[in-house]
Amino acid sequence: MNKGKMKKGKTNTFTRRDFLKGFGSGTLGVAITPKLLAQKAESIQTKAGEVPVYAKKQIKFTVNSKAYTKVVEPQETLLDVLRDKLSLTGAKKTCDRGECGGCTVLLDGNPIYSCMYLAIRADGTNIKTIEGMAKEGKLHPLQQAYIDKDAYQCGFCTPGFIMASEALLKKKSNPDLGEIKKGLSGNLCRCGNYTKIYQAVDQAAKAGRS
Ligand code: FES
Ligand code: FES
Repeated sequence: MNKGKMKKGKTNTFTRRDFLKGFGSGTLGVAITPKLLAQKAESIQTKAGEVPVYAKKQIKFTVNSKAYTKVVEPQETLLDVLRDKLSLTGAKKTCDRGECGGCTVLLDGNPIYSCMYLAIRADGTNIKTIEGMAKEGKLHPLQQAYIDKDAYQCGFCTPGFIMASEALLKKKSNPDLGEIKKGLSGNLCRCGNYTKIYQAVDQAAKAGRS
C-alpha cells in the first residue's frame, strides 16, 4: 500500500493512522471532493443559487486486460461499477467507507480502496482485480500460497489482501516480516488470520514466484 510518512522517533512502528494519512494525501484525499467532480464531470448549467447537478460521463478503461467503455454517474464509485456493471464481484463492499481494504484493487499498479474512488477518475486507467490474477486456469502463486498456508477463514477479506500482497511484491520481491506487515497495513481481517496471511506472502516472496 502507499507508504505513510514515518514520524521522528517512530522508526519501528507503522500504524493504520500512518497508512491512512499517506493514502489520504495521495489518492484518497482527492477522491470525492466537489472540486474534483467539477473537473472531471460536465456540469449542467444552473441558475445562480441553485445546487449544480453533474452529468453522467462516459469513461474508457481497462480491467484485467480487457477494454471497457461505460457511462457512469458522477457519484458512482469504482467498486460499484466493477461489481454492478462489470459483474466483477471479487472486490468486496465490506465497510464501504475506506476502513477495511476489502475492496482493494490495483489501479495502474497501485492498490486503492475502490469504494472510495470515483469511477469517473478511472477514465484512461488500467485496473487489475482478483479475477485477473489466475491465468489459463492456474492460480496465481499468491493465491496458491494463501491456500497452502490456510491464510483465510471466512475469506471475505482475502481478495483485498491478495491484491495488496501483489502490489507489495511487485515493489519489493523479498520483504521481511516488518515490510509485509507495513505493506498490508491498509487491510483488516476480522477473523484475525494475520499470522497465516503474513506467512503466505512470505512463501510467495521466498519462492520468487511473484
Ligand atoms: S469496503 Fe472499501 S475500504 Fe472497506
Ligand atoms: S478471513 Fe474472515 S475477515 Fe479475513
